[in-house]
Amino acid sequence: MSILAGKVALIIGGAGEVGEGVVRQFLTHGATVVVPSRDQYRLEQLREHLGRLCCDRLITFQGGCCTEEGGLDLRNKIEQDVGQLDMVVASIGGWWQGEPLSQVPLRIWNHIMENSLTAHFVAAKTFLPMLADLKDSSYTLLNGGAALYPIPSAGPISVSASAQLMLKDVLSAEYEHSQVRINTLLIKTKVNTRSQPHPKPYWITADEIGLYAVYLASPACDKHGETIIFNERGEIPMMFE
Ligand SMILES: NC(=O)c1ccc[n+]([C@@H]2O[C@H](COP(=O)([O-])OP(=O)(O)OC[C@H]3O[C@@H](n4cnc5c(N)ncnc54)[C@H](OP(=O)(O)O)[C@@H]3O)[C@@H](O)[C@H]2O)c1
Repeated sequence: MSILAGKVALIIGGAGEVGEGVVRQFLTHGATVVVPSRDQYRLEQLREHLGRLCCDRLITFQGGCCTEEGGLDLRNKIEQDVGQLDMVVASIGGWWQGEPLSQVPLRIWNHIMENSLTAHFVAAKTFLPMLADLKDSSYTLLNGGAALYPIPSAGPISVSASAQLMLKDVLSAEYEHSQVRINTLLIKTKVNTRSQPHPKPYWITADEIGLYAVYLASPACDKHGETIIFNERGEIPMMFE
């Protein structure tokens, strides 16, 4: 199915565990996909994992796009080399578990806030204005269950994830009268990814998340400002009906 043929998607964090499934699904559904990463090796690994799906519709850039300079640099490159951007998926973040909150070193707190919250803010600030006036454009943030309930010894993750939900709510309100649809895909279950040593049949897969992200980006979807929660695999809503 080529529901996204002719569209250009930026998948931030596309070289990550979940991002890989998102990239695969956007390529499968016909989009041109731009993936930035700070690490060239991760981009090479992504190409290896994608295998025969790698084609001239996959465009990778080495560089961080979640600093103001890096974001503007990528934005300029996309405009010059690829053209108009239609959709963004921000699969930014990662996991951390260590000390109880009262013992977390400030250095670690700042690092997690930077990667899990500030990076989302800078990405949204950089790329949403490109989408605001564009029909059928979309911006999807990925988030995890820690946004909804406290996880002992993972406090900075819970706090940043919860704040990321409010980031989406504020952005959705501010962009309510524009063309771009902004939503969060919140995954409460663990995810079966390429590196998961003990996959479980009831966990969602990175590709299933990617498929739902395709739906959110497609003209078939009219959601805006929503948080779509996946509790477990069986709850994935039917799409493209
Ligand atoms: N894995 C799971 O089981 C699971 C479960 C529930 C929800 N999630 C959600 O899925 C999303 C992705 O998680 P993941 O497991 O795929 O993590 P991951 O493998 O660590 O990938 C995270 C991606 O985020 C990017 N990133 C992190 N900090 C950044 C920064 N400061 N600037 C730019 N890019 C930055 C990284 O980009 P680089 O390539 O540049 O390093 C990386 O590709 C998160 O929102 C997470 O909450 C994951």
